[in-house]
Amino acid sequence: MRRLLPDPGPTSVSEQLETYRPWEEPREERPFVALNFAATVDGRATIGGVSGPIGSETDTAMLAGLRKRFDAVMIGAGTMRAERYGRLVAKDETWERRRQAGLPPEPLMVLVSGRLDLPWDAPLFTEGGGEVLVFTSSEAEPPETATTVQVVRHEGAVNLVEALRHLREERGVRALLSEGGPHLHDQMQADGLVDDLFLTIAPKLSGGEAPRILEGPLPAVAELELAWLLEQDGELFARYRRA
Ligand SMILES: NC(=O)c1ccc[n+]([C@@H]2O[C@H](COP(=O)([O-])OP(=O)(O)OC[C@H]3O[C@@H](n4cnc5c(N)ncnc54)[C@H](OP(=O)(O)O)[C@@H]3O)[C@@H](O)[C@H]2O)c1
Repeated sequence: MRRLLPDPGPTSVSEQLETYRPWEEPREERPFVALNFAATVDGRATIGGVSGPIGSETDTAMLAGLRKRFDAVMIGAGTMRAERYGRLVAKDETWERRRQAGLPPEPLMVLVSGRLDLPWDAPLFTEGGGEVLVFTSSEAEPPETATTVQVVRHEGAVNLVEALRHLREERGVRALLSEGGPHLHDQMQADGLVDDLFLTIAPKLSGGEAPRILEGPLPAVAELELAWLLEQDGELFARYRRA
């Protein structure tokens, strides 16, 4: 892997993330927030309805490396339904490294859902271990699952500003990685809740009706600064910061 910006030279996913310490930068009323997305050159965020075929193994390694550096990971219900998540971090030496860095052994998994229509048979719920926190505007009760699921209810729709305040103040979350999807992303950008945007641009064109990384309107154009740009086999790994 090459670092193109800043300080051009050879690097690797682990070397690049080594000094990335988002848990040291919590905001006053919310965690530090990073978003991660992969897109094709024509800006599509899915191929065949899922994100997996977009990026390479290096992209997967970047996502896995990022997950190791956050207290919590958040996704919208649409992403959970499409991607059917399992546990976030395998129990290996990673747990000890996380402990040494002052992080919980496993990141808290946070879901945002209006209808609480979630794939309860997905490994995240059936494997047990870890902890899932669901923000929802539904009054339905989640079913019994092997994994502990806690529910926080908001009236009407989930208020993301309040949800992030809850994570910071009630759950001690200092750094939150959001893995999308596009509808959750627009609201987070519109509410000014995103500090870093990690974007993988895969050297592919897919066309069609697939969503982009951000689907709804924003109240104003968000200006970004490029914090780093990496390249491997024609795939670009950008990290942007809100200007
Ligand atoms: N390329 C990538 O990196 C990437 C990353 C993530 C996802 N994706 C793809 O994106 C697609 C999913 O897109 P999406 O936009 O539907 O996903 P999404 O943003 O994950 O989910 C949207 C859903 O989240 C819930 N939600 C969001 N904001 C809410 C709020 N304020 N209050 C209550 N509920 C809220 C609603 O759930 P309910 O329906 O339960 O009401 C809504 O339908 C999938 O195909 C996935 O593969 C791609």
